[in-house]
Amino acid sequence: MEKMVIRNARKTDIDEIMNIEYDSFIDGISENRNVFLDRIATFQNGFLVLEVDSEILGYISSEIWEYSENIDEKRFDLNHDIKKVHKCNGSELYISSIGILKKHRKKGYGNLLFKELIEKISKNYKISSMILTVSVNWKPAIKLYEKNGFKEICRIKEFFEDEDSSDGIVMRKYI
Ligand SMILES: CC(C)(COP(=O)(O)OP(=O)(O)OC[C@H]1O[C@@H](n2cnc3c(N)ncnc32)[C@H](O)[C@@H]1OP(=O)(O)O)[C@@H](O)C(=O)NCCC(=O)NCCS
Repeated sequence: MEKMVIRNARKTDIDEIMNIEYDSFIDGISENRNVFLDRIATFQNGFLVLEVDSEILGYISSEIWEYSENIDEKRFDLNHDIKKVHKCNGSELYISSIGILKKHRKKGYGNLLFKELIEKISKNYKISSMILTVSVNWKPAIKLYEKNGFKEICRIKEFFEDEDSSDGIVMRKYI
């Protein structure tokens, strides 16, 4: 029987994490290795990997922000520096990225990782809301977030540097 584990990411996981990143996002959208290493170093509890039989099949990363009713679009910039915005005592969880290896999608792993992160962070930090941004083109991700109670609050015009400069949907959930 396969052995599945969800655990905090470690620096030594970086090659497998970047492999998932490049499998999940095209050039211009995928984020940098050093950005991921900083995320692990700064907020290890907010960066989880899902392993099956010792192979990492997916990751999810996050940071904690001070809550702001008004959306500052710059905050969502890809490759932004987590050290400048992460506040352990903030009240909003920002889910910065999630990816599952293509060949292992639609098996429930994305949903498991998403739920585990939210449960773990809500239990251990004073979070009262969660926020994320997603391209209008990423239907599976939008479905996943809606299924977990996230609702669109606004759009950022031409946010993503993909071939059609897709708009970003900002979604939030209060808990
Ligand atoms: C989004 C992603 C992480 C989902 O991972 P996954 O393991 O395939 O998702 P799951 O199997 O757990 O499915 C969870 C829910 O997501 C939605 N979903 C997943 N794949 C879908 C698809 N191809 N079409 C429509 N909805 C889909 C469904 O609501 C599904 O729930 P259901 O099976 O009860 O209907 C994965 O598709 C992925 O890595 N995509 C590329 C990277 C990406 O877009 N990341 C989001 C950045 S904002």
